[in-house]
Amino acid sequence: MVSRVTLLVLLLTLLCIQSQGTGRYLELETATSAAGDDPSAIFEPQIGDFLSSYSAVYQAGNGPFFGGGGRFDIYGHPNVTGHEVVTTAVWIVGERDDRTLDAIQAGWHAADVTGCYNTACEGFVKSDTTPISPGDVLPISTPDEIHELMIWIEKDDKGGDWWLYASTESTTSGKVGYWPKSLFSKLAQNATVINYGGFVQVKKGSVSPPMGSGHFPNDTAAFFSNVEYVDEFGRKIAGNLPSVVTNKNCYDVGNMGDATFFYGGPGGCVN
Ligand SMILES: *[C@@H]1O[C@H](CO)[C@@H](O)[C@H](O)[C@H]1NC(C)=O
Ligand SMILES: *[C@@H]1O[C@H](CO)[C@@H](O)[C@H](O)[C@H]1NC(C)=O
Ligand SMILES: *[C@@H]1O[C@H](CO)[C@@H](O)[C@H](O)[C@H]1NC(C)=O
Repeated sequence: MVSRVTLLVLLLTLLCIQSQGTGRYLELETATSAAGDDPSAIFEPQIGDFLSSYSAVYQAGNGPFFGGGGRFDIYGHPNVTGHEVVTTAVWIVGERDDRTLDAIQAGWHAADVTGCYNTACEGFVKSDTTPISPGDVLPISTPDEIHELMIWIEKDDKGGDWWLYASTESTTSGKVGYWPKSLFSKLAQNATVINYGGFVQVKKGSVSPPMGSGHFPNDTAAFFSNVEYVDEFGRKIAGNLPSVVTNKNCYDVGNMGDATFFYGGPGGCVN
C-alpha cells in the first residue's frame, strides 16, 4: 500500500534538476560515479557502477545555444521500481574545457529513486505565480486522450539566468522559475548541447523499462514536437537535428519532420 502511494506521488512530476561540478547529470544520487569527465559519454549506456541508462533523443550539438524546448505527451509508468527512471525532457548542457558538465533538465518523469529532484534541489528559484510547480502531478495520456507538457528554457539576456517556462493544455504558459547563473560555470555563458527526447535508467543487470508510450516510433508512440533552440543571434531555430539512440533493440526515434518526431520503445534490454 505504501509503495503504491509513493509511486503515485512520484509518478509524473515536473522535473527540474540542476547539476554542476562533476557532471552529475540526471540523478544526483549517482553524482560521484557519473560520466562527467567525458561529455561524449553522457549518452553511453552506463552511468556509474550500478546503473545502466538508455537514451533516444535528437541532439543540437556545437552551440553556443541560449535556449531550447518543445512539446511532448505525458505517459504513466506505474511499474517503475528499484532505481528505475523513465523521463521525457529537454536537457541543456554546457561542456567545460576540462570536459566536465553543467546541465539542467526539465520535463516529466516516473521514478522510484531518491535524488535531488524538483524543489529538493538547491538552486532553482521558483516564481511567485507559476502555472505549474516542480513536483506537480501531471495528467497522463490515455489512448483516447493525449495530455501534453510544453517546456521552454531560455537564458535571460540581462541577468544571464536560465528561465523555465512550462504549460499543459489546461494551463497557459508561464514562468516556473529560474536557475541562477551563479550556479554554473559553462552555462553561465552558453550551452553547447541540447537534447530532446526520452531517457530511462535501471539497475545494472535488470531489464530496462518502457520509454514514452512503450511503443517503438509509429503512430502509437510518444511524440515530441516544436523542437526549437535559440542560436547565438537570438533566433529561434526549429530543429532538424541528428539523433542519438543508445540501443535500437529496445528504443528508437522516428525521422524528424516539421520539428516533430516519434520516439520510445518497449524496453527489455539488459546491460
Ligand atoms: C504493470 O504491471 C502489471 C502487473 O504485472 C501489468 O498487468 C501491467 O500491464 C503493467 N503496466 C504497464 C504499463 O507496464
Ligand atoms: C560561449 O561561451 C564561451 C565560453 O565557454 C565563450 O568563449 C563564447 O564567447 C560564448 N559565445 C557567445 C556567443 O556568447
Ligand atoms: C506500433 O508499435 C506497436 C508496438 O511497439 C505495435 O503493437 C503496433 O502494431 C505498431 N503499429 C504500426 C502501425 O506499426
